[in-house]
Amino acid sequence: MAKSSSRPKTAYVCGECGASSSKWQGQCGECGAWNSMSEMVLDRGSARGGGSGSGWAGGSASAGITPLASVKQDEESRVPIGISELDRVLGGGLVAGSVVLVGGDPGIGKSTLLLQALASLGARLSGLYVSGEESLAQVAARGRRLGLDLDPLGALAETCVERILQQMQGARPGVMVADSIQTLWSDALTAAPGSVSQVRESAARLVRFAKETGTSVLLVGHVTKEGGIAGPRVLEHMVDAVLYFEGEVGSRFRVLRAFKNRFGAVNELGVFAMTERGLREVPNPSAIFLSGAGQHPGSAVMVTREGSRPLLVEVQALVDQSPLANPRRLTLGLEQNRLAMLLAVLHRHGGVGVFDQDVFVNVVGGIRVQETAADLPVLLSIVSSLRDRPMASKTVAFGEVGLSGEIRPVPHGEERLKEAATHGFKVAIVPRGNAPKGASPQGMQVHAVERIEDALALL
Ligand code: TYD
Ligand code: MG
Repeated sequence: MAKSSSRPKTAYVCGECGASSSKWQGQCGECGAWNSMSEMVLDRGSARGGGSGSGWAGGSASAGITPLASVKQDEESRVPIGISELDRVLGGGLVAGSVVLVGGDPGIGKSTLLLQALASLGARLSGLYVSGEESLAQVAARGRRLGLDLDPLGALAETCVERILQQMQGARPGVMVADSIQTLWSDALTAAPGSVSQVRESAARLVRFAKETGTSVLLVGHVTKEGGIAGPRVLEHMVDAVLYFEGEVGSRFRVLRAFKNRFGAVNELGVFAMTERGLREVPNPSAIFLSGAGQHPGSAVMVTREGSRPLLVEVQALVDQSPLANPRRLTLGLEQNRLAMLLAVLHRHGGVGVFDQDVFVNVVGGIRVQETAADLPVLLSIVSSLRDRPMASKTVAFGEVGLSGEIRPVPHGEERLKEAATHGFKVAIVPRGNAPKGASPQGMQVHAVERIEDALALL
């Protein structure tokens, strides 16, 4: 054994970029971030090495170079949780020994989701719920109220990660939930619980345990004001998957989205509704992102395709005379820079200027649309609001807008049109490249447009 001093060696690591130094500094010498350095343990098996603690052939320093083709592929064993919207986002189920971070605002339903997940796995994979926030009585009461079968589940009210690991060595659960990672602390560090270094060290120990034993670990993380989980970016690198649970204030719908996933695609969405009996799956979410308010100026419906399903989503724009020298451009659920670009294209190639106007764009239902297929409907909603004229009723649109004013096709055009037709839409404005070759679905009237001018002429 190497020397075992009583106090482990520590260093100061930047929570932003991961650079380390032996002394504390107010500003990170690498990335220039202020107040980002915090104490980390440097002994064996801790988070050393920039947090790449993914258990990559853990500690096989003596192994030689292997021809990649000769490496046997062991089928990762994946256990479907049985909540199909959650399984969809995970990529088909929970992989043994994987570590999944579930982030989201307080009160969004993370604890509820994970308790339901453990209960759904039931006896197929013995579950342990480690609660650092609520008492076990509260956890059990919630489980009973939701009508969950609690018999196969274990629970532990503990926040010291060493004591949690000690308990797990004996019990060997198939899956454990740590609610939340911010409450855990390691006695190897002197920093206060909840600090960046404690969160990171606790996570590193759980990751190592998961890789060594095959226990799957689900970590709950609170989202900070800036939108990152728990402050330390490094946490996102240490785990196998990062899922965000989001929803709009006042809406009962919740969307689960993978931000990173080593075992599946990252653009899948899982949709849930929060009810008095817990989270219920919404297997056919297509119509829930429509406001249902009918056609108003500034409203457009798009067919987006997040993951493997087409979704009808309403986008609303408000264009209003600005009192400011620098009018505001605000987006909710869309990228702000993309809006600035679209407005420039609209002026340059569509001849419509909005420099003296505030422009607000909102995606209904609190979901975030990342696809470029949203460009055309966003532009149409803006022009509709500017002219104070609603779009023709039962109209959908999709298409990417290029910098030279061309409307580019997007993948899966036919499937999007079919989805819109199923929901009773009668008119579609689509890129020329997405126009159906044969008859359009269910007698839909499809306008194929090539340039932004063509689309504006249709309004
Ligand atoms: P919770 O899972 O505790 O959120 P988180 O762990 O993300 O902080 O969920 C809390 C909210 O969900 C709370 O405001 C009440 C609501 N809720 C319901 O509406 N129905 C239910 O059955 C449960 C369990 C919670
Ligand atoms: Mg909670």
